[in-house]
Amino acid sequence: MPFHIVVLPGDGIGPEVTQAARQVLDAAAAHYKLTLNYTEHLIGGCAIDQLGTALDDATLAECQQADAVLLGAVGGPKWDDPTAPVRPEQGLLALRKGLGVFANLRPVRVYPALIDASPLRPEKLRGVDLLVVRELTGGLYFGQPKRRLEENGRRGAVDSLFYWDYEIERVVELAFQLAAARRGRLASVDKANVLETSRLWRQIVQQVAQRYPQVQVEHVLVDTAAMRLVASPAAFDVIVTENMFGDILTDEAAVLAGSMGLLPSASLGAAGGGLYEPIHGSAPDIAGQGIANPLGAILSAALLLRYGLKQESAARAVEQAVERALQEGCRTRDLGGSLSTQAMTEAVLERLSFEHPS
Ligand code: IPM
Ligand code: MG
Repeated sequence: MPFHIVVLPGDGIGPEVTQAARQVLDAAAAHYKLTLNYTEHLIGGCAIDQLGTALDDATLAECQQADAVLLGAVGGPKWDDPTAPVRPEQGLLALRKGLGVFANLRPVRVYPALIDASPLRPEKLRGVDLLVVRELTGGLYFGQPKRRLEENGRRGAVDSLFYWDYEIERVVELAFQLAAARRGRLASVDKANVLETSRLWRQIVQQVAQRYPQVQVEHVLVDTAAMRLVASPAAFDVIVTENMFGDILTDEAAVLAGSMGLLPSASLGAAGGGLYEPIHGSAPDIAGQGIANPLGAILSAALLLRYGLKQESAARAVEQAVERALQEGCRTRDLGGSLSTQAMTEAVLERLSFEHPS
């Protein structure tokens, strides 16, 4: 059975890193005799320029039918005008919503070889292996009303943080399942001392917790969580949180790993193959130079193999090849080295070994 993968390279370094990820997917496919059929479409700023919309209906429809979607990045200074009627990011948000991918998994590992790449002290970083489960289709990003208003000559603006119980329950349930399969610890991050949505969130976490007696749960206020992420990051296993809290905390967590360029993500829903994207942005300052770190995209391709195509051995093989490349000193510029995007990709390809990935 051939798999259909929609590739949405997007803006900035998106095309370079998705191209790298495709090479690695192709190598895995050749070994496991998988047929991968790709179709590429526009999203973000380039789609605004060429189609007049950040995500057109035909592309969304194709993504909904696909076995998985691989995305690069969206946005850039060209489209940053605060008065613009449409922004590149709207394409990404419409895609997440349209695919129903309510849970965004962002694993953060510290590779022993990269301990010195982080500004934090080595003893803080040893053993860091956490997974942030970010709610992705609700919360502050999507709540209504969301608009500008004018009254008595004053300009105002409103964004709303809103959740239905089922939106919280489904992402929390998945976080418990993931925690049960890992080290059995779940930190639910909220701002329950101030926000009504967070108090509902806590109640639902307590309810779901009844079904997972093997998981040890704690509630952590988001400001405290931000502090603990750098003060004692190894103590976290799985973190589950609201959309924007998760956005902010995962950029912070990227500092643990040594570079934003390393972090992958998988966005999953109740059905469908999911959406896979590195967490770094479009990095317009280095776009088109062939120097971006492809590992976040390559590790996203590994998650695509694992969750989208159910090819666990292939996923592990890719992850181990990345780990080996890092162990053996391969570094792009963001990690203090000088390898180009393509050289780093080749370093991973050379180390891909499909013999008994453990
Ligand atoms: C991310 C990004 C996006 C987000 C932007 C580009 C809309 O920061 O995936 O973390 O805020 O979700
Ligand atoms: Mg972000």
